[in-house]
Amino acid sequence: MKTPIIIDTDPGIDDVIAITAALFAEELDVKLITTVGGNVGIENTTRNAVNLVNFLGKGTPVAKGTAQPLLNKLVNASFVHGESGVGGYRFEEQENATVLSTRHAVEEMKELILHSAEPVTLVPIGPLTNVALLLRMYPKTKSNIKEIVLMGGAAQGGNRTPVAEFNIFADPHAAKIVFDEQIKIVMCGLDVTRLTSITTENVREIEGLGKVGDMVSRLLSDYDSTTSTHGSITIHDLCAVFYLTRPEIFKGKRATVNVVTEGEASGCTVTHYTEDGHVFVCLDADVEEFRREFVSTFKKVYEKMEG
Ligand code: RIB
Ligand code: CA
Repeated sequence: MKTPIIIDTDPGIDDVIAITAALFAEELDVKLITTVGGNVGIENTTRNAVNLVNFLGKGTPVAKGTAQPLLNKLVNASFVHGESGVGGYRFEEQENATVLSTRHAVEEMKELILHSAEPVTLVPIGPLTNVALLLRMYPKTKSNIKEIVLMGGAAQGGNRTPVAEFNIFADPHAAKIVFDEQIKIVMCGLDVTRLTSITTENVREIEGLGKVGDMVSRLLSDYDSTTSTHGSITIHDLCAVFYLTRPEIFKGKRATVNVVTEGEASGCTVTHYTEDGHVFVCLDADVEEFRREFVSTFKKVYEKMEG
């Protein structure tokens, strides 16, 4: 039985790789992709999501979401992902293009969740603005949300400030709304994404695998050096997808997480470990297995698309 999921995203180079892996995962049924302002502005994140779905020949619905954080002014990460959000990469035009929904992402999320026969898993891999709006505008959806598996936060450290990870820092008020809800959350934060970097050798193993292997290797060559050190590349968002397809790779602890929303520590996810916490914080992973999964994922994509 495939797990029905909604991916909420700000593509974003690592988002593109994570979404591709999810769209071809046998374990997942990607019902909807919703976009949010984050790495770059909403027009570019939305265009990148639609172009990716068309490039992969999928008919997955895409809905444009919220451009700005709830209260703060959007800070972007174009220095990592380029102004376009996908570096210098340009998707080839596709016939029969997937049509972008005319409804707002939050409305599409609400409709899908309320009418789903199976509880839906939310997979936010950008700022949590859309998810916070969904939970506040349509609280009845909570009873049909299985869990939220997100890339964001950190029990230790930060990448946008010394104590805040970008997705949470970008919209701390939205993150506080989401983490304060008593919905089961899996937090794939910097604690684990920093460990699960892939190597340039892993990239070399897939770069020749058709147009998707070519896309991934070209995207990663543009991925700013802030995320690639000593030949290893951190594809943050891929952790959230691999948690869903290969949960045994990951280890962690249960916690409650308080999000700081003001001042110098804004965006900090203060993590209190407790056995009855509703947040599972990923803290460790089998890195070699993660790397093997990366390579095998894109070999399977190649076989499905061009084999
Ligand atoms: O901190 C990493 C996160 O910020 C990832 O989701 C990346 O795409 C950026 O949005
Ligand atoms: Ca992202």
